Amino acid sequence: MAELRSELTKGGREFIVILMKKIGIAGATGLVGETLLRLLEASDYEITDLRLFASKRSAGTRIRFRDREIEVREVTAEGFEGLELAFFCLENELAREFVPEVARFCPVIDKSSEFRLAPEVPLVVPEVNPEALKGHKNIIANPNCTTIPLVVALYPLHQQFGLKEVFLATYQSVSGAGRAALEQFFYETEFIALRQKPDTGGSPFISQIADNVIPVIGSIDEHGVSSEEKKTVLESRKILGLPELKVNSTCVRVPVAVGHSLAVTCRFDRRVEPAEARNILNKAPGVVLKADSELATPAECRGKNDVYVSRVRQGATEYDLNLWICTDNLRKGAATNALQIAQRLLGE
Ligand SMILES: NC(=O)c1ccc[n+]([C@@H]2O[C@H](COP(=O)([O-])OP(=O)(O)OC[C@H]3O[C@@H](n4cnc5c(N)ncnc54)[C@H](OP(=O)(O)O)[C@@H]3O)[C@@H](O)[C@H]2O)c1
Repeated sequence: MAELRSELTKGGREFIVILMKKIGIAGATGLVGETLLRLLEASDYEITDLRLFASKRSAGTRIRFRDREIEVREVTAEGFEGLELAFFCLENELAREFVPEVARFCPVIDKSSEFRLAPEVPLVVPEVNPEALKGHKNIIANPNCTTIPLVVALYPLHQQFGLKEVFLATYQSVSGAGRAALEQFFYETEFIALRQKPDTGGSPFISQIADNVIPVIGSIDEHGVSSEEKKTVLESRKILGLPELKVNSTCVRVPVAVGHSLAVTCRFDRRVEPAEARNILNKAPGVVLKADSELATPAECRGKNDVYVSRVRQGATEYDLNLWICTDNLRKGAATNALQIAQRLLGE
């Protein structure tokens, strides 16, 4: 948490006093919920009332948090009564059912995509559009795990050069699809190591993921565009406040446990010098720019809160810039961003 706080104070910004005392996490047994819980545990927040929720299957199990054990409850809206803040790390259907109900009691930071594009719901990346939180109606959406690193890196460049078009190819890790997907990946990997064909019946993926690459994430619409690709397009436009921004996106699942990567070409209104772009990225909040001779990789960014950028170079014209971005999808792609939103919200 010291890390997160220093993020927010980087560049001489004012320190925000945060009191996080009564918190609920829905989906606390999932990958994002667990990551959030461990970030809170390592923080110096004094949390007096921490309520953990999951499915009926997990109800009654106990999760260690600092010096106590907390019993997991089945999600109900009433379970959040009396809390100051709720984090929702559940699938869309469950978010649709519970988030508006829980928002009657306290602000909800929702990790699902259910409310992200609703005009009255702020979709927030604190390095980019913290002002969107003003006047919120107790539902705040946390963007997609690929959109977050994309806009963190592109926003400072946009301010200088004027973003016109984005060409994006993603290399998304299996943990982005949840715990069952990660387990399937580990299981398949063991079979592949033994030179045997893994059983993919019951897999959350449409085909084998170990020793493979799947060029579709989510469902495909009548135009051949995947739901994940649409998220990167529509969410980037909303967060950057650029409703006409052209984004050409191809989202791909790769056999990496944790850490999403993005190959990006940005086309600007003004000429862009790679050296100037590097200078901007070097000072950008939430960005770690690698030295020219170094590479950002998913393995390196795992367990970290920043967006890593490397291979910044001129594109096909002097208006184009190519870059390579990596981030931990469970941290800045999900839990870290949610926690940073909470810090902004409670420091309001
Ligand atoms: N993974 C990522 O990198 C990532 C990034 C950005 C956004 N997200 C989004 O964040 C949300 C959570 O993702 P995740 O990766 O953490 O998923 P996950 O690992 O599959 O965890 C899902 C959570 O939902 C709970 N759950 C499932 N069915 C339930 C039910 N019927 N009632 C109540 N709780 C239920 C599970 O509880 P049990 O353990 O009891 O089943 C678990 O706590 C999703 O909306 C996802 O799209 C994920």
